[in-house]
Amino acid sequence: MTSAETTSTIPTIDLSAIVQSEDPAVRKAKAIEFVEAVHVHGACGIVGHGISVERLREAFKWSEKFFNLPTDVKNKAPHPKGMVPHRGYSGFNTEKCLIYTEEELASMSGELSKDSGKALDFKEHYDIGSEEEKVHYNLWIPDEDLPGFRNFMLDFFWEFESLSKLVLDALLEGLEIDKAATDYYRSIHTGHQNGIRPIHYPPINESMIDRESLTWCPTHTDFTSFTLLAQDLASGLEIEDRKNPGTFFKATTDIEDRLYLTIGDHMDTWTNGYLPGSKHRVVIPPPKDGSKVTPKRFSMPYFVTARHDGVLEPQHTGKAAEMPEGKYKKMTVAEHIEFRMKYQYTDIGDEEASS
Ligand SMILES: [Fe+2]
Repeated sequence: MTSAETTSTIPTIDLSAIVQSEDPAVRKAKAIEFVEAVHVHGACGIVGHGISVERLREAFKWSEKFFNLPTDVKNKAPHPKGMVPHRGYSGFNTEKCLIYTEEELASMSGELSKDSGKALDFKEHYDIGSEEEKVHYNLWIPDEDLPGFRNFMLDFFWEFESLSKLVLDALLEGLEIDKAATDYYRSIHTGHQNGIRPIHYPPINESMIDRESLTWCPTHTDFTSFTLLAQDLASGLEIEDRKNPGTFFKATTDIEDRLYLTIGDHMDTWTNGYLPGSKHRVVIPPPKDGSKVTPKRFSMPYFVTARHDGVLEPQHTGKAAEMPEGKYKKMTVAEHIEFRMKYQYTDIGDEEASS
């Protein structure tokens, strides 16, 4: 890679005390530990979250079955040109990932990565959300083409929605921000604006890869509140070490059911930077066992986004009071998404970069 070598790991938090305990003191202690872990890098691993290994494996089986379908079947639910609805199947070379300008990033306190302009546009994904969302309505392939897929994915979406609420509640409890502001922030997370995206990165011949400059997805932040990432055993996600900018932690897959939480721009703004937006990238895993091709990779980010008319006002109480004032501007979720969309993508657009 062009930037510094990856380092070992980021913290992993066991959320089982929050999932299982009714004791407010136990839950509060864990919430504070959780917030302090995320405060450092804007990201952490999470285990004990209540979604079983078996369930995650089942989800990746469905994902693989879907991507194994003939292209003409997958294209029965094509992602439309433009942003509405932000749903359906995006095949290879349909997404042109560009990074925002240096000036725009500077205004967001971000930095332009050395490799940010170069990404290997060779993946396919499928965007799914709430059936009750009227603007970004779901686009499905006919059920007879993959019986059971739609029902499974909808159930799985709502399982992740329950987990995302638990995560949000824990973060809000640990942040100790003013109650009225916290209640408002919680209220704009209805679940219906969330999305799940099975992604397939196919194998590629190593000889085609310029590892000095190419990544599956260049360094970026997500324009969400936060993202929960499930990935199969082929790793690739790397999360920036905020204490050593330009160096990255590998999001390792040695614990199969570990999910990775990355904070997005919206929670970064609302917490006045106390929970900073995670900069992350996806690198192409090296071939294994003497093979000339890289392993295929499946991942499944769950994007948690607030209502688009939600107001992101930087907070100055609780933990957020520890951060300097004046870095962030008040804006709506829609305004921020529009701002990022303008610079990050062409063609179909993409509400959140992939992971
Ligand atoms: Fe991302």
